[in-house]
Amino acid sequence: MTNKIEIIKGQLRVPNQVTIPFIEGDGIGSEITKATQKIVDRVIEFTYNGKRSINWMEVLAGEKAHKQTGEWLPQATIDAFKAYMVGIKGPLTTPVGGGIRSLNVTLRQTLDLYVCLRPIRWFKGVPSPVRYPELVDMHIFRENTEDIYAGIEFMTGTDEAKSFLELLKKHSGIEKIRFPESTSFGIKPISEDGSKRLVRAALHYAVTRKLPSVTLVHKGNIMKFTEGAFKNWGYEVAESEFASETFTWRQFESIAKEKGQDAAHHALEEEKKQGKVIVKDVITDAFLQDSLLKPYNHSVIATMNLNGDYISDQLAAMVGGIGISPGANINYQSGYAIFEATHGTAPDIAGTGKANPCSLLLSAAMMLEYMGWEKAAEHIYDALEHTFNKRKVTSDLHALMEGASLLSTSDFADEVICNVH
Ligand code: NAI
Repeated sequence: MTNKIEIIKGQLRVPNQVTIPFIEGDGIGSEITKATQKIVDRVIEFTYNGKRSINWMEVLAGEKAHKQTGEWLPQATIDAFKAYMVGIKGPLTTPVGGGIRSLNVTLRQTLDLYVCLRPIRWFKGVPSPVRYPELVDMHIFRENTEDIYAGIEFMTGTDEAKSFLELLKKHSGIEKIRFPESTSFGIKPISEDGSKRLVRAALHYAVTRKLPSVTLVHKGNIMKFTEGAFKNWGYEVAESEFASETFTWRQFESIAKEKGQDAAHHALEEEKKQGKVIVKDVITDAFLQDSLLKPYNHSVIATMNLNGDYISDQLAAMVGGIGISPGANINYQSGYAIFEATHGTAPDIAGTGKANPCSLLLSAAMMLEYMGWEKAAEHIYDALEHTFNKRKVTSDLHALMEGASLLSTSDFADEVICNVH
């Protein structure tokens, strides 16, 4: 029996003794990786009585790779993620200058990891800037491969900018540019294929987890053929591929137009009673307000790259900040997935035992869920909640929590392990 994860007819097949490649990460990476692996190993042992285990296989990237091999991201690392399908990584220093691309971006692009998934939930006891953090429970599906992140930009004054301007002159549009001769340009590619596969993944996630709604977040009132098209393609996927599991806001509006508002509201309530996922859309700026004022209105969020970037950080801040929020980059078609800490390498505290390992630990819990080892993930969530309730925390949260006990990264890991039961 192989120890590799495989995908067979769209389903992951995970062996009980599974090999998981990991990148330790730079800066605080080694501290949070050690803490995470110790907790995860203990939880798996506790949950499955030795029937399941992870064989952690280190692969190199970042400064450690550069020191040992002269390369920032060796081909062997990419090959390992391809061969073993699911992996986890600590934060990596972005090499400065010399035309070296961000290692994170390279990994995402090479494996075509088109979903950036960020679950946002609050753990009792964690300091939050909002009044009712317990009402925050959202899952962000951020498109990871398109939008202005494609990196197609033309600096004003360059030949590219000049020929782009010529193109605009031919196709009209030049009159909309206030200062054509001193303008730089950026291109925003949003495709039907890219939008639909993202929304499909979000809908599938909501349906299988029996979540109440999917919100398509867009600025289609201004950017009609990119963000507006994203919204329409999103509704199309819901209505054509998830017809029996969803009820869309477009369907609500069409009933309202034909039979009146009361009939539409009645239909909506009936569909909710049947457990249908409600698919709606909200303009980005309104969403940023609404998610703060009425977070219970939103469950799964499907959005494009730039919106997703802003939204992820705002929502993370609502439940205790980027230091504890997990993330994953996933291709649900090929099965490839890399789970990661969402913060950086924190060079200011590296080696001091001050790092909070929760972002990486919660990413590992997401990984266990992705592998179908949900019970083990639940034990991690419970143990963390117990630890926070006892007010035993690392220095970042200690500064914000009254009467809390300060623990080092490794003592925090031991405390979480004590709370596994
Ligand atoms: P950063 O996230 O490393 O640090 C920002 C602040 O948060 C610092 O004060 C740091 O001490 C604190 N912090 C971060 N993680 C923490 C944790 N787990 N526990 C306690 N405190 C924590 O962001 P910064 O300083 O902008 O970036 C440093 C390096 O990390 C750069 O080279 C950057 O490119 C890289 N980076 C890598 C990312 C990744 O690999 N996914 C993401 C973001 C940045």
